Amino acid sequence: MTQPTIKVNDDELEYEVARRRTFAIISHPDAGKTTLTEKLLLYAGAVELAGSVRARKNQHHATADWMEMEQQRGISITTAALQFDCRGYRINLLDTPGHQDFSEDTYRTLMVTDSAVMVLDSAKGIEPQTRKLFQVCRLRRTPILTFINKLDRPGREPLALLDEIEQELGIGSVPMNWPIGNGPSFKGVYDLAKQQVLLFERTHHGQHRAPVQVHDLYDPQLAILVGQDEYQQLVDEIELLAAAGSSFSEEAFLTGNITPVFFGSAINNFGLEPFLQTLLDLAPAPGPRMSSDGLIEPTSPGFTGQIFKIQANMDPQHRDRVAFLRVCSGRFEKDMQLYHSRLKRKVRITRAYRFFAREREIVEEAYPGDVVGLANPGLFNIGDTLCDGKVIRFEDIPRFTPEHFCLLHNRHIAKYKQFNKGIEQLEEEGATQVLYFTDSLRKEPVLAAVGELQFDVVVARLNSEYGVDVSTERLPFTCARWVECNLEKLSDIIWPSRSKLARDREGRLVALFSSDWEVNFCLEKNPGLILKELG
Ligand code: G4P
Repeated sequence: MTQPTIKVNDDELEYEVARRRTFAIISHPDAGKTTLTEKLLLYAGAVELAGSVRARKNQHHATADWMEMEQQRGISITTAALQFDCRGYRINLLDTPGHQDFSEDTYRTLMVTDSAVMVLDSAKGIEPQTRKLFQVCRLRRTPILTFINKLDRPGREPLALLDEIEQELGIGSVPMNWPIGNGPSFKGVYDLAKQQVLLFERTHHGQHRAPVQVHDLYDPQLAILVGQDEYQQLVDEIELLAAAGSSFSEEAFLTGNITPVFFGSAINNFGLEPFLQTLLDLAPAPGPRMSSDGLIEPTSPGFTGQIFKIQANMDPQHRDRVAFLRVCSGRFEKDMQLYHSRLKRKVRITRAYRFFAREREIVEEAYPGDVVGLANPGLFNIGDTLCDGKVIRFEDIPRFTPEHFCLLHNRHIAKYKQFNKGIEQLEEEGATQVLYFTDSLRKEPVLAAVGELQFDVVVARLNSEYGVDVSTERLPFTCARWVECNLEKLSDIIWPSRSKLARDREGRLVALFSSDWEVNFCLEKNPGLILKELG
């Protein structure tokens, strides 16, 4: 096992930045994100037996009382970052919820990660949620490593999977290892850089690290160990890859132009050790972030951080709200007084927490790349900058294009004040986007969300926190586009008959469509019209 070579520097801040690795895992549900997380913890030495994350996750599901809704559905809405140490590195694994609890938060988290691991199921390749999450990573050209999982089951040909990544996602794919066998005959991987064959053994339920044997490709024993046909296929494919000459370039990876690809089986711990080591070696330490004052280096001494997520009711007994801050530069300390760039005043940070599932602990100090939860008595919005020393403001975190829409009816008109206050605050928190149709006299809000579950969250929270009784009516739209054109030209625009126009809270025009086809139709009919996906 190689030890990391973190540059040890007298400067504590530089040292702490250099050893941080902050990444998120992106995948379509069921590709193996939870299993991979668990196995990374096992190989990192953070847990002794694989299964503890899932056990905690299941336990959390069973006993969650975040909201009654959460209990009824057995889902987790509470998200955070998982922090653990591994071989001298400090890892922040950012949670990117999938399944029904998929929401704009999942996208926002990708705005503050330094790299991402994309998990694919070898039998399914690129699936819809992977594609969406990948595209969000692309906005910041986030470096992405790919782990193709479930090689122990019959899957697609490795070359076809590499080709699919290139064709569907438009990113170069460079294999770092090559699978030996496929499905039941999957025995291990060939490490292309080290030119070593790694054969793994299964362990009971994959709870322990898989024992590994290392061989040379031309070791005469190998054909006996893996089977003559599998061996011949491996040799042929390695020769083919060598002839194709696609080699890994760190620079191309760091600029998001290529993704290094690993084959393995998370459940059986096959290929996990080399994957973790390469992840630690390749994933970048926190980098500079763009602000109103240019790029802010993580090692610049003044503290800066940005709020990227707000979570309400983390503790239902206290009805608290927690704002999650990513530390961008300098050192965070408990009880700091920080300048709030949007409110233009100082705020004292008295309660700062780190979360793991439902547990929380006080944070005494944190460094760039770390995530800190701040008790938020309505002070913070998504995108807010906190700083110490020079006043700066980070670039806004974009609003992502919603795909689900509904009208929100207030059942008790007498409570219109609470209703309006509730939706305004929930929108500020980023729970949903709120639009108003331009042609409607009754100004009923349209909720627009990335994931459907957000509607239920909004309804439940309006009821429990603001005491208003509301109902939703689904609308048939599936995409929204922010419209850019001269006002005088607006009346000349030909819209598809089923589309509708609305305004967001800032008064910007948003067109709602029922399909991508309608968006394309609109663009074709109206040369010069700009329809933007992000607000
Ligand atoms: P997710 O978080 O991306 O949704 O996926 P998760 O890890 O929960 O994995 C989804 C299913 O795929 C699980 O099976 C898991 O055991 C299985 N799986 C993960 N990695 C591998 C692998 O390398 N090979 C194979 N064959 N299966 C894998 P499940 O039946 O849904 O759950 P469980 O009963 O195993 O807990």
